Amino acid sequence: MKAHIAILPGDGIGPEVIAEGTRCLHALAQRHGHTFTLSELPFGGAAIDLSGEPLPTETLSTCLAADAVLLGAIGGPKWSAPEAKVRPEQGLLALRSALGVYANLRPVKVHPALLSASSLKPEVLTGVDLMFVRELTGGIYFGEKRQDADSATDVCTYTVAEIERIVRAAAQLARQRRGKLVSIDKANVLETSRLWRRVCTRVMREEFPDVSLEHMLVDAAAMHLIRRPRDFDVLVTENMFGDILTDEASMLAGSLGLLPSASLGEGRRGLYEPIHGSAPDIAGRGIANPCGTLLSVALLLRHSLGLSAEAEALEQAVSAALEAGARTPDVAGDAPAASTRAFGDAVLSRL
Ligand code: IPM
Ligand code: MG
Repeated sequence: MKAHIAILPGDGIGPEVIAEGTRCLHALAQRHGHTFTLSELPFGGAAIDLSGEPLPTETLSTCLAADAVLLGAIGGPKWSAPEAKVRPEQGLLALRSALGVYANLRPVKVHPALLSASSLKPEVLTGVDLMFVRELTGGIYFGEKRQDADSATDVCTYTVAEIERIVRAAAQLARQRRGKLVSIDKANVLETSRLWRRVCTRVMREEFPDVSLEHMLVDAAAMHLIRRPRDFDVLVTENMFGDILTDEASMLAGSLGLLPSASLGEGRRGLYEPIHGSAPDIAGRGIANPCGTLLSVALLLRHSLGLSAEAEALEQAVSAALEAGARTPDVAGDAPAASTRAFGDAVLSRL
């Protein structure tokens, strides 16, 4: 098949992990007879440095015309002064919004070979396989923001339609998995959460009577996630709770560098990014974990291009590399560690 993929390396370790992702895309194209056209574009802090804007017009129009977008990470100390007028993060929110990718899928699977990489006990982790569905284009991230000398405001708004579509996306996934949905909110305090709970209950009763639904308060969910993570199947939540809980959930897998994500809207086009940030502390050293990116490439192949065999081949190659002992420093413990490139080589040789 022919596909056009927009590539946004971004900042910090973004370009380093994306380089491994594009190597795998080229290798898969060659092996399976596809033509992938990759357009690399400035985004985030790198784009601010070039043009003053985190999401230049040409970057956005290329993303809108592409079949899929693969993104590394954005941000860094250079662009994060409290008084900064333009921030890389604004570009990311604008891109998610412009692409209409309201459903952010963040799968968390514990790889048996990495059980010892987590700070949690192996017996708590064995068999963990859950899927976060984070609402991505609404809530407090997108509400009105104000700041003056002695106060600041961030408005959190959700509409019924926004809640309905994200609950449907999550329930459909639960139906293909173990049929269990947990909806996370703060309905004892927030009006948006009370609306969320009401709409979620109705959609599930009317449209998904075969999927079990449990409501959980976000503070309790944070606790249960590390106390009994195996009990969870699909979790659906609003934008900011999802951001926070998925960083926590990455510790089940062993490292923030391991987790991929797919952000989807109504069509097939999607935005794919590892859930980690730009990690300025290790940027430029060639030691970042490319797993989150490689697994995001697999999600891109599956969801936007419909290439499930290629997606599986890549996932299995990542898994086999880990089983063979390839480890970047974040998950190596006392064992010898591989560089980002060496890990990429270990995956490529198994593709
Ligand atoms: C994420 C990141 C972003 C978010 C930041 C960089 C704006 O933390 O994708 O989880 O909060 O959504
Ligand atoms: Mg985050």
